[in-house]
Amino acid sequence: MSQTLTLTRPDDWHLHFRDGEQLRGTVPATAATFRRAIVMPNLTPPVTTAERALAYRQRIMAAAPAEADFEPLMVIYLTDATSPADIAEAAASGIVYGAKLYPAGATTNSDSGVRDPAAIYHLYEALEKHDLPLLLHGEVTESEIDIFDREKVFIDRYLNDIREKFPALRIVLEHVTTRDGIEFVQAHQRLTAATVTPQHLMMNRNDLLVGGVRPHNYCLPILKRREHQLAIQQAVLSGDSRFFLGTDSAPHAQDKKEAACGCAGCYSAPAALPLYATFFDQHNALDKLEAFASFFGPDFYRLPRNSDSVTLIRESWIIPAHVDVGGVTMVPWQAGIEVPWKMAD
Ligand code: NCD
Ligand code: ZN
Repeated sequence: MSQTLTLTRPDDWHLHFRDGEQLRGTVPATAATFRRAIVMPNLTPPVTTAERALAYRQRIMAAAPAEADFEPLMVIYLTDATSPADIAEAAASGIVYGAKLYPAGATTNSDSGVRDPAAIYHLYEALEKHDLPLLLHGEVTESEIDIFDREKVFIDRYLNDIREKFPALRIVLEHVTTRDGIEFVQAHQRLTAATVTPQHLMMNRNDLLVGGVRPHNYCLPILKRREHQLAIQQAVLSGDSRFFLGTDSAPHAQDKKEAACGCAGCYSAPAALPLYATFFDQHNALDKLEAFASFFGPDFYRLPRNSDSVTLIRESWIIPAHVDVGGVTMVPWQAGIEVPWKMAD
């Protein structure tokens, strides 16, 4: 007997569309399910100003199917050269919904990121004043810090103090990966939130390393121990509104992933909602999916919830081995895996 699940249309609160020809693949893949998405600014060169965000937004809109009613929510990329005036301009633009802090060198295209997160308090102050959320890639980058500890050290070294000094600033610990990150969010008020990716909910570092290296499960922040995965699962299943959907869909060409020095990022957009639904279903919590996917994000960003809906069907399908993204072959995250839930046409 087929079963269906209809939800308010969800939004994706953290993803990477890339640019140029690739937008012809990435934007329709997301717009098929989500009505809005917080679009990461880590292009080369990065999207550092409202003006660049507006131009990037236009390129995204040109790639969106007309019938989709898709709305990209733009983000500016903070650098050591960003000024409070840049933030004021972004806030006034009406198309920018956050400012992203990448510690320099933390991840893909973060070379222009901030060298010292403790040296930009004037920018946090401007964000707080203009009520623009601070979106964090919450990892330190020092080579002496173990890759599995980088999120915890970022929280200890920087985030506690930022949270304390700017009590009215909205902060999103994006793609949370540790029990420490979960506890940090839980310990604070409603202005502190985290996005949760499907890979950090459904996997731990064994899925990256046991039985051979799995480059398609390699992303940053890296998958952690199972105990951290369990903390993320519990937080999401508890129905706490501070944890909401952000895929971190981050496409890289197949040959850049399957390489001696492979790129970080999972291209999850082609199967994102069915994968989240599978997770909730496995935990007998399908009733919690809609708030996680469609309510908590807009509530945090102070945007209206969507008024239309999407439908999932309980019908198994296999995630394709490859997809063409603007002429580049990509391997979707979980390629070849049978998924019990499918988007209805
Ligand atoms: C992202 C990318 O490829 O742009 N990669 C990733 O592993 N998540 C960058 C990021 O979000 O860290
Ligand atoms: Zn990301």
